[in-house]
Amino acid sequence: MKRAFSTVAALVVATVLFSQNAANQFVLDAAKVGAPIQPTMYGLFFEDINFAADGGLYAEMIKNRSFEFPQSLMGWKAYGNVEVLTADAPFDRCPHYVRFAPADHRDKHTGLENEGFFGISTREGEAYRFSLWARAVDGDKATLRIEMADPSSMGETQITASATIDIAGGEWKKYTVELVASQTVVKGVVRVNLGSAATVDVEHISLFPKQTWRGRENGLRADLAQALADLNPGLLRFPGGCIVEGTDLATRYQWKNSVGAVENRPTNENRWNYTFAHRMFPDYFQSYGLGFYEYFLLAEDIGAEPLPVLSCGLACQFQNHDMSAHVPLSELAPYVQDALDLIEFANGDTSTKWGKLRADMGHPEPFGLKFIGIGNEQWDAIYPERLEPFVAAIRRAHPEVKIVGSSGPNSEGEQFDYLWPEMRRLGADLVDEHFYRPESWFLAEGNRYDNYDRRGPKVFAGEYACHGNGKKWNHFNAALLEAAFMTNLERNADVVHMTSYAPLFAHTEGWQWRPDMIWFDNLNVARTASYYVQQLYATNHGTHTLRLLLDGRPAAGNDGQNGLFASAVVDAQSGEYIVKIANVSDTDQPFDIAIKGLKKRQTLAAGTVVTLHCSNPDADNRVGEPEVVSPKTESLSLSGQNLAGTIPARTFQVYKVKVKNE
Ligand code: AHR
Repeated sequence: MKRAFSTVAALVVATVLFSQNAANQFVLDAAKVGAPIQPTMYGLFFEDINFAADGGLYAEMIKNRSFEFPQSLMGWKAYGNVEVLTADAPFDRCPHYVRFAPADHRDKHTGLENEGFFGISTREGEAYRFSLWARAVDGDKATLRIEMADPSSMGETQITASATIDIAGGEWKKYTVELVASQTVVKGVVRVNLGSAATVDVEHISLFPKQTWRGRENGLRADLAQALADLNPGLLRFPGGCIVEGTDLATRYQWKNSVGAVENRPTNENRWNYTFAHRMFPDYFQSYGLGFYEYFLLAEDIGAEPLPVLSCGLACQFQNHDMSAHVPLSELAPYVQDALDLIEFANGDTSTKWGKLRADMGHPEPFGLKFIGIGNEQWDAIYPERLEPFVAAIRRAHPEVKIVGSSGPNSEGEQFDYLWPEMRRLGADLVDEHFYRPESWFLAEGNRYDNYDRRGPKVFAGEYACHGNGKKWNHFNAALLEAAFMTNLERNADVVHMTSYAPLFAHTEGWQWRPDMIWFDNLNVARTASYYVQQLYATNHGTHTLRLLLDGRPAAGNDGQNGLFASAVVDAQSGEYIVKIANVSDTDQPFDIAIKGLKKRQTLAAGTVVTLHCSNPDADNRVGEPEVVSPKTESLSLSGQNLAGTIPARTFQVYKVKVKNE
């Protein structure tokens, strides 16, 4: 009864129409359980590119809240008597604040209007937490009037919410009020007006939705954080990417500036502000409000292992060709110390300097950091010679922490071939590979890891995405090729221990780089086909690999394999066999998977198939049209020891089946 298989799913029922010869014959070896799948296998790579942090995941709605952009009032319109001052500031690392003095006429106003990130967008009936720091100059009592407004309103009033704050005394204090929006507004503003005849100093003007992810005050946008949680990620690499390196060393990401009171985290330039002159955002800075503490919390919340990446003392090598741009080896010690201090911040006892700061910020328990990345996309001998002192110091102080090194910016070639042996020599635990590659590359690389050296460092496929030929934007076919390629990652889970698609987020009005996994505007989010591919792998990762062969070979889209890519895992807890198949060809492909190694009385029981398909390979979900492509689940009723079906042309499927004793 080789074909004793039936299904309620129409597409699988159709298989009985195919002759046995037409089916692609697979053999799945259920008797020999392979390598464990690492919990970190399917992860996330977060970088503040495309307004992913400020203006994105970080829920702060006020741009330049501390007046620390190089042009102090960028993002603000000042009217009346407004002055920017620094003397006697409340926060030493954010020294600018504003002074509001009365306008020179009863009917005139003094104040500031903030434009937010592409507008301040509010929803009708939702509550927002507005706060600022202020003092009444000379100890006078003073009043501020706070307004949310829709400047383009045709209504009688522009104002959609307002509140009054009484400022008492000459000491700097934090004042908070709640505002409830009377209307949904997409391109709103927030105004802070002087409401009395007395002068007031104001600093750190902030507005958050009350409903942040997990209700945290310095919180994240709930819809975007939920999209991350729904991916079931095992890893969170942060904070970049190129922003780790900086355009120059002064603008590299410095984690110590991103912790402690949010009011006192110095603003940093965001290199994506100007990296691409044809997509420039001169108002793109990092407030560090989403800093290392918040990244660790996010990782913990979504069940992912944190993987912070630190500067190795090299400024972005694409932008700096002169050695004077980098830290000389003789001056690397503070950078190495930053790495040791970070491990203390994450894991140290609360009696230590950095462990105490973590506790003071609200997390006395250690974060359980297990991995650290040193350097992003580095190359040439100047990288290993800098990595070496980091490895020595981390091994000495924290032998339990695994070190991730780099193989450069390319998936192959001179630097890649040079760096892998160097990473072996230095004893890196994992090597980060990056590949933003065209369709032809993804189609050709189905066997990439089959013959990798199993000794030495493991692979972290840390940044990858299929960039369609001539179509450098999200579309279904690119996601399908990613799904096909990922069968190779999964099949080789003994050597591939971590993976993450990149970039993760993009604001529709503020992107520099695409394709991206999740698109959003101020009020909406769209999960792309690539998102669903990642989700299907991460939510069906199983616990161990299984050998799955098509005509005696791994199914990797090779000659005679009819555009099929496939991999299989078993979930030791649920007892499920999980088979992932991508059909990148233009024809439906019948298949027959003989499950070898089952006992005579064992047969397949009920199962499911999840299908990801889009009739238009050039289409994808986008903000405003978020449901063009989504996974569809159908149940299967099965018998016998063969899993057979037909995978439609240009489709990715995940089959989950169990075995029962007859
Ligand atoms: O993901 C975008 C960029 O691509 C990253 O910052 C960098 O690591 C790579 O070049």
